[in-house]
Amino acid sequence: MDKAIRVGIVGSGNAAVFHYAAYLRVTGVPVRVVGITALDMDQCRDFAGRRNIRQFDTLSEMLPEVDVIDNCTPGYAHEPVSIAAFEAGKHVIVEKPFTGYYGPAGDDTFQGNLHPKTIMMEEAVASARRVIAAALKSNKRLCYAENWIYAPAVQKEAEILSKGKGQILWALGDQSHSGSPSPAYGIWKLSGGGSVVGKSCHPLTAILYLKQVEGMTLYGNPIRPRSVSARTHEITRNPRFMDKGFLRTDYRDIEDYCQIHLLFEDGMVADVFASELVMGGVHNWLEIFANNHRTRCNMSPSNAIEHYNPKEEQLADVYVMEKIGTKQGWSNPAPDENFMFGYPQEIQDFMESIAGEREPKSGMLAASDSVSVLYAAYLSAERKGEEVKVPLDPELG
Ligand SMILES: NC(=O)c1ccc[n+]([C@@H]2O[C@H](COP(=O)([O-])OP(=O)(O)OC[C@H]3O[C@@H](n4cnc5c(N)ncnc54)[C@H](O)[C@@H]3O)[C@@H](O)[C@H]2O)c1
Repeated sequence: MDKAIRVGIVGSGNAAVFHYAAYLRVTGVPVRVVGITALDMDQCRDFAGRRNIRQFDTLSEMLPEVDVIDNCTPGYAHEPVSIAAFEAGKHVIVEKPFTGYYGPAGDDTFQGNLHPKTIMMEEAVASARRVIAAALKSNKRLCYAENWIYAPAVQKEAEILSKGKGQILWALGDQSHSGSPSPAYGIWKLSGGGSVVGKSCHPLTAILYLKQVEGMTLYGNPIRPRSVSARTHEITRNPRFMDKGFLRTDYRDIEDYCQIHLLFEDGMVADVFASELVMGGVHNWLEIFANNHRTRCNMSPSNAIEHYNPKEEQLADVYVMEKIGTKQGWSNPAPDENFMFGYPQEIQDFMESIAGEREPKSGMLAASDSVSVLYAAYLSAERKGEEVKVPLDPELG
């Protein structure tokens, strides 16, 4: 009998690639990726063929063969795929954003940037609660794939914070780059929004997690977000933007810049930035200003290697870092980017949590609170930065 945890992946794009690579690095827990399914069957067949795993035509065909569904679809499919998996009695890993608002079913005229944000916030929160209800009913694990929680720099800060009994006064973070490679990104009804849900979710959820750790250490309860003030902008669709061809610009109805100011229930604050406007490689960083320390987490770039290359072609076959743009001149090649981003560590934790009957570090609370903050941010931005209360799930935390 096969004792390994059997995993089936849904979606065969970018996220599936680094999830699959992470399964190969799991230690101490027997795991086997059985197969994969996706809407894009050519891509799915290619993915399966290269890795010698099964390609399934549908999710329902794959469900009986696996114990875990790893949901690597675009945001619009996170709820239906996850609920179908829970109803079939499977554990679920779901990529970020946990879920969101994707417009009225079948409405091809839907424009997310123009749609009323009160409705969006209510619907996104309702969607998150439906997935969590399905998880609780099935008694299976809900693993939220927010890799920043698992980034070694963030985990080190969590250790410093808890062992030093620190209090975070102000957290500051950013994820920015020159634009996602996913064709679904840029179309609100597929992605659920732009820089807010697609990028700010990373530093934001790492900060939510660290305030949870702080609260558990000091009071035995997580410190949760209370209110948010945000602005969003559509810089590359500004008629005065002069396109020089270095940034992705084909977004239909999403924002490409955001800033979010967050107030926690203990009165402490965070500021998060995200954009699609930054060249020079993915910019992933977080700074913590605590009452007893200060930590700067440089996920990318990190200066473990400082390299000068006088001729572009010399590095043609060498991976340098995500979205570097050019390999000529000075760069910081990432020695193990997946590790720095926490991808293997998150899958390791999920597999241990499923095998060991314990909650993952990134589970329901991080998933639910992140959706509440992100869509409260959209409502605040619609009101030009007015403070909006975060609609927390009272059942959690
Ligand atoms: N944590 C990270 O750093 C990170 C990085 C990239 C993407 N992501 C997240 O991963 C998810 C996927 O992003 P991606 O870049 O891989 O997208 P992608 O567009 O490259 O791939 C999406 C895949 O999902 C499949 N798909 C779409 N709708 C489906 C459905 N209803 N049922 C089954 N399959 C379906 C497509 O055929 C495709 O194979 C997104 O939620 C994204 O936000 C996370």
